[in-house]
Amino acid sequence: MIDVDAERAATPGCSVGIHLNSAGASLPRQATVDTVVAHLQRESRHGGYEAAQQVEAELLGVREVAGALLGAHPGEIAITGSDTEGWTRAIWGFALCGGFEKGKRILVDRLCYDSHYIGLLRVAEAVEATIDVVPSEPDGTIDLGALELALAFDNVALVAATHVGTHRGLVNPVGEIGFSCRRAGVPFFLDACQSVGQLPVDVGEIGCDVLTATGRKWLRAPRGTGLLYVHNDLARRLRPLGTDGRSSEWIDRTDYRFATGADRFMEFEAPVANILGLGEAISHALDLGVAAIAERVQELAEYLRTSLSTLEGLTVHDGGTVRSGIVTFSIEGTGSDDIARRCGLSGISVWTSQLSAALLDASPLRPEVVVRASPHYFNTHAELDRLADVLSDISTGT
Ligand SMILES: Cc1ncc(COP(=O)(O)O)c(C=O)c1O
Repeated sequence: MIDVDAERAATPGCSVGIHLNSAGASLPRQATVDTVVAHLQRESRHGGYEAAQQVEAELLGVREVAGALLGAHPGEIAITGSDTEGWTRAIWGFALCGGFEKGKRILVDRLCYDSHYIGLLRVAEAVEATIDVVPSEPDGTIDLGALELALAFDNVALVAATHVGTHRGLVNPVGEIGFSCRRAGVPFFLDACQSVGQLPVDVGEIGCDVLTATGRKWLRAPRGTGLLYVHNDLARRLRPLGTDGRSSEWIDRTDYRFATGADRFMEFEAPVANILGLGEAISHALDLGVAAIAERVQELAEYLRTSLSTLEGLTVHDGGTVRSGIVTFSIEGTGSDDIARRCGLSGISVWTSQLSAALLDASPLRPEVVVRASPHYFNTHAELDRLADVLSDISTGT
């Protein structure tokens, strides 16, 4: 069980306001901030290169804890600046190794996030591939039967799917997607940006070949950090765009050699202080236990959905049977941006999710903009009650 009081005491932001935006960027712990600041001070005293030398072992340790978090070998993990950076590197690495040669069809799910889809559009332009959207079940999760049918053709180059969409709280059945991809022999690229840190994510169990995640959301790490996992068998084939002397070795006037595994996705220049903060945050998540985090987050989110569903004029938009810590809703007659602004005036941080972030999942039943509240384990039931009170006032016009 998570000691919520201790977690709150260790998180300065908990005494500032009610933060219900971990799906955007969560509150880091003081220990994470201290780790970052300590390294910046080290850099100011010794210089950036010398400071990095002093923490070489700690930096290796970041990939080790990230590997432990994802059930991967540390050498299969690259530290990136964001989810999108990892995604872009992996997808272009795939394109440049001729990954689209044979098939030329890319399958995506309807939860697909804008940066991932736009990235695929750009690659598809370059390699003349087509992108096919796998339909969803009425509850919003991917239609596994339709995926199976699409995979029955031998012209599928890869499947790109989303664990948890940015815009509503359902959890896609990624283990089943991975199973189908493995059976068909098709690489599976997973967007786990909204799941890593709040749900158990094990790349072996899921059966994905590539996974991308970000630090600032459910991992509570500093901004500008992310993780890219690439299965070793695939990594040795990928030819990333944009490499330096760390990700590759310059051999002679006409030749170079990529580094092994996920190292080929890591450049020399990196925000060392933030990466150490990322490692500290991941270690803390591991100490708490991701299963315990998931249990607490899911309980809080369901509690919120239940209390919101009693409010007049309010519609909760989350589908699926397995749900995450993302709770989305709208109130009849009041714009979602206005709702978020009014919550902010009451000291409650919620965010909005625009249709343009997940355009494939448009539905006449959902407005273009919904409000998104995303409690983490450090939030309390009392904070959720306070949000429900404010929303009740908004919905009744008081
Ligand atoms: C589902 C999903 N995928 C990808 C991203 C992109 O993450 P980043 O901004 O770290 O690149 C986000 C960001 O909100 C997201 O919600």
